[in-house]
Amino acid sequence: MTTNDKFAPEGTRLFVTGGAGFIGSNFVRLAIENGFNVTVFDALTYAGNMENLAGVEERFRFVRGDIRDAEAVRNALRESEPRAVIHFAAESHVDRSILGPKIFTETNVLGTHVLIEECRQAGIEKFIHISTDEVYGSLGSTGLFTEESPLDPTSPYAASKAASDLVVQSYAKTYGFPAVILRCSNNYGPFQFPEKLIPLMIIKASNDEKLPVYGDGQNIRDWIYVMDYGTAILRALERGTPGEVYNVGSSNEWKNIDIVRLILEEMDKPLSLITYVKDRPAHDRRYAIDSSKIRRDLGWEPETTFEKGIRQTIDWYMTHRQWWNNIMTGEYLEYYEKNYKPKL
Ligand code: NAD
Ligand code: DAU
Repeated sequence: MTTNDKFAPEGTRLFVTGGAGFIGSNFVRLAIENGFNVTVFDALTYAGNMENLAGVEERFRFVRGDIRDAEAVRNALRESEPRAVIHFAAESHVDRSILGPKIFTETNVLGTHVLIEECRQAGIEKFIHISTDEVYGSLGSTGLFTEESPLDPTSPYAASKAASDLVVQSYAKTYGFPAVILRCSNNYGPFQFPEKLIPLMIIKASNDEKLPVYGDGQNIRDWIYVMDYGTAILRALERGTPGEVYNVGSSNEWKNIDIVRLILEEMDKPLSLITYVKDRPAHDRRYAIDSSKIRRDLGWEPETTFEKGIRQTIDWYMTHRQWWNNIMTGEYLEYYEKNYKPKL
């Protein structure tokens, strides 16, 4: 990857919040491979997992801490002296936000506010805020989300992410704080927590259990391979204009039911495992991203076809049973029971 001088990887220290989660841990590997030094700052909630970072040792440091804790953030920034911050840490699952919304506001809004204020005080030179396309709400059968689409979040999760975007934007406008906001579509790939559609369906299929599809299964998501998002984040770090928002996506729309069928076919399992369950409340119908701005202005392109990415992802879950077996314990089973049992 070509870089500009300011954020050339060699010797540049990054501070990565939420780096023990799904997208964060994939990004950390990519950043280290590219020559960056990385400090991960992560509270290790149910979704954070040190096994996601197994084998990552060189040019790497881990600090357990909560982004809502100003002193912990301040101390970690002082000790690691980063030039740039990539902010992934969040509560990230829509269904959990419906069962218990408060922690979403606390982590995603208040946590982002505490973090960005400490980063401003510390003189951070670039702050990449990892937002989501869900802040735009839902699309009908036509059209795409552009950076100018109005914020119209539906779930408590999406509302908390939209609110955090506004906090970040206010810092860029008021203080000239060098923040860039990325709004990406649905990621898939290794290390994704099995509460999300693709890993959940792979694991259920592998265990010959029922695959729970919400509503009529016709909701559409726009899927991107997690490493392609990683390269987009590096581009934004190196070339993104402070104060700007960039949408990121792979132009790869799929109906949920078609993804579930594809997984079953790839795994040689019967379609009869599909079971339709009660719909998610206020379930967004369609997400689809116009990512022409980041492609044009930052020269980024995704590289992984869905055919290749989904095959790699299924293979990864099938060869990492221990990883997900370790997760399928108390907290996860309790959550699954709450979210699905009354409807099945
Ligand atoms: P994840 O749930 O897998 O990981 C979240 C990480 O944040 C975990 O390691 C967790 O321990 C950490 N964390 C949570 N609360 C914290 C706190 N208070 N302090 C410090 N660390 C804390 O999430 P993910 O799917 O990897 O998503 C990462 C980011 O990307 C989120 O901000 C999410 O909104 C955004 N996003 C996700 C997707 C997707 O498809 N998964 C798409 C677009 C944007
Ligand atoms: O668009 C980006 C967002 O993508 C991120 O901001 C979120 O952090 C991430 O969780 C994801 O949100 P979704 O709600 O789109 O992802 P999820 O995997 O939960 O669901 C994808 C679709 O599949 C959605 O239409 C709901 C449906 N679904 C999901 C689960 C878990 C089912 O039909 N059955 C299920 O059991």
